[in-house]
Amino acid sequence: MAEFSQFGGGGRLRHLLTLDGLEPDLIRELLDRAGAWLSRPGELPRRGHELQGWTVANLFAEPSTRTRASFELAALRLGADAVNLDMMLSSRAKGESVLDTIYTLQAMQVDVFVIRDAEPGVPEYVARHVEPQVSVISGGEAHLSHPTQGLLDALTILQYKGGFRDLAVTIVGDVRHSRVARSASTALAALGVGELRLVAPAELMPDADEFPGALRFESFDAGIAHADVVMMLRIQRERIAATPQPDLARYHELYGLTAARLHRARPEAIVMHPGPMNRGVEISTDVADGPQSVIRRQVTNGVAIRMAVLAHIAATRRGCAL
Ligand code: CP
Repeated sequence: MAEFSQFGGGGRLRHLLTLDGLEPDLIRELLDRAGAWLSRPGELPRRGHELQGWTVANLFAEPSTRTRASFELAALRLGADAVNLDMMLSSRAKGESVLDTIYTLQAMQVDVFVIRDAEPGVPEYVARHVEPQVSVISGGEAHLSHPTQGLLDALTILQYKGGFRDLAVTIVGDVRHSRVARSASTALAALGVGELRLVAPAELMPDADEFPGALRFESFDAGIAHADVVMMLRIQRERIAATPQPDLARYHELYGLTAARLHRARPEAIVMHPGPMNRGVEISTDVADGPQSVIRRQVTNGVAIRMAVLAHIAATRRGCAL
């Protein structure tokens, strides 16, 4: 099959399916643009007209709270109409194909499809078949990719740390099945992060040819030492049904982020988690809600990043840079 490009003219995004291949300047531009959509606490959310007249359809075939709600809010705040389809409750459950679902919504003049699916390749498959004026954004593709999450994680780190070059970023937990870890590491590598560390038990560590350049640790105490950023991951139980599930109490003992363990990181280290969290498993409640946690800021940044991506794609379609 011919290679597919997510880019339109001039290196601008027509779709966003993956962060692979994005130039650092383009990532920085999206982070900058997102910063402009953030309001101060107590202010009304910022709004724009970049998507006036557009329709954005969220088609989610896996559960979501943050991604789906933030894409909907991003679309509405930019002046678009938004439609949310729970694919588990759509006519797909009656046997309708993915493409027939897409063609049906395209006939209702949808401009952007945001797609989350457990099956690898679905966002690209849809992007290959939509009309030329229609865009596709991945809202999470199997274990492979979650591009807007990678961008919002990079934005959060930038806000707290001011850059990437001198940082040690430790990603902890079920890295093997994590699309969040893959997209975050792609963004951080492009932005020149100083050191990327992966901490996981052997069965949850990704294959050796993935995460090039990352240091790997089975010991959490070793992997967290002097870290600037600690990113905790949920065990993706839905993706590891074929292998024995970890004992959760034992897992918390070895890989749970507690206040005692966080002391091994730098005193000003930030704690991240993409959500949803399993408190008492990968993270203790006092750390999740503690002064070093930036988890809710990640959620706020998620809306701004999705506004930036949608506005960028709208500008690509109009044939102009923002
Ligand atoms: N981080 C994330 O993708 O969360 P949701 O599954 O709630 O969208």
